[in-house]
Amino acid sequence: MADLLSKPGGRYGAYFHIPFCDTKCVYCDFYSLTNHDQAVRFYAALKNEISLRLKSDPVESPLSSIFFGGGTPSLAKPVDLGDCIRILGDQVQISSEAEITLEANPGTLTPEKLDSLLNQGFNRISMGVQSFSESDLKFLSRIHSADTAKKAVNDAASAGFTNISIDLIFGLPGQTAEAWTENLQQAILLPISHISCYNLIVEEKTPLFNWVNSGKVQVPDDDHNSELYDITIRFLRENGFNQYEVSNFCKPGRASVHNSTYWSWDPWLAFGPSAHGFNGQSRYKNFRNLGKYIDNIEKGNLPEEDRESLDQKTIINEKLMLGVRTTEGVTITSIWTHLKPDEANNLRKKLDRFEKKGYLNWSDSFLKATPEGLRFGDFLAEELFIDPVV
Ligand SMILES: C[S@@+](CC[C@H](N)C(=O)[O-])C[C@H]1O[C@@H](n2cnc3c(N)ncnc32)[C@H](O)[C@@H]1O
Ligand code: SF4
Repeated sequence: MADLLSKPGGRYGAYFHIPFCDTKCVYCDFYSLTNHDQAVRFYAALKNEISLRLKSDPVESPLSSIFFGGGTPSLAKPVDLGDCIRILGDQVQISSEAEITLEANPGTLTPEKLDSLLNQGFNRISMGVQSFSESDLKFLSRIHSADTAKKAVNDAASAGFTNISIDLIFGLPGQTAEAWTENLQQAILLPISHISCYNLIVEEKTPLFNWVNSGKVQVPDDDHNSELYDITIRFLRENGFNQYEVSNFCKPGRASVHNSTYWSWDPWLAFGPSAHGFNGQSRYKNFRNLGKYIDNIEKGNLPEEDRESLDQKTIINEKLMLGVRTTEGVTITSIWTHLKPDEANNLRKKLDRFEKKGYLNWSDSFLKATPEGLRFGDFLAEELFIDPVV
């Protein structure tokens, strides 16, 4: 079993969840609050969580990435985020080349804030643009216009950020192929090196879910979503963005180090309410409740709600799934000895079949998706899943 676990020496990330937003977007299920009354107590707790977490999940290798997500981390005072980086750096080595990302809502950025963020050590910014159409932005209840989003990206570049990503969502109600292509066209005119394009998910317990359920709003069917996804892949490829994960595209050399950590089965630390972490052997998640999170830390306890040691079957299936969802892939050297001979033969046959179709490349030590195969990542994963010997 030990041979299946993460090995030291690869990437090691750190994720901070900032649970505040200006307003709640109608489609969003991320843990965030529009009441900021507890903000001061929260930042104090977040800084104190660092030593509690490192006592429970010590880190030997230097950190290769730090990511502040949310919620809307760009609402925070840059110095509070910088303090977290410094406190972390006092207790664990941060690589001099580490990617340090801030997730930002374009409606919350000013040139002054961007300057301070650079001064606090951020070298990458990921902006939730979602769409360049005013009617889409209104429907999604975004706090910014298309022009504000473009200005925020240009301001970030002028401030000195050379690694800028934007998020777009496709499959919005009424979105035609032409309208989506226009969005992509607007995107590539900006000084960005990375784009995440997410197919809209109708998350339970959101206003969008209620509207779709009551028939007030209709979302596109699977065929239309596939057409929009095909357009995305083709358009971005023709314009110099390589697809390296199902929803992620980048200029050469600009794949997100932090996201690649999640996708290659490398470990990461997690801080903040609702944050999920992985120490190479077990996964843990923090309370998705700000009050409980803060109370626990103030009492000197880890704010952890749950911890799961991964069993053999979960590890093997996760590796197969991650392998077919990224072009970087994962190592699978260790899985074979944990399979019955007929299971191993079966898996090899399936891998050969999908390799012949051009969807993946594999050897006994490695599995990775081809750009063509990324389209079918979820389907391939389900086909490959196995029940290993316990
Ligand atoms: C935490 S948010 C990003 C940062 C910031 N809070 C913002 O919205 O500008 C992460 C990204 O997830 C995507 N996202 C959130 N909810 C989604 C949904 N229901 N379907 C598809 N994408 C979603 C959006 O593109 C969003 O930018
Ligand atoms: S999409 Fe971003 S800004 Fe909107 S509610 Fe979710 S986390 Fe907050």
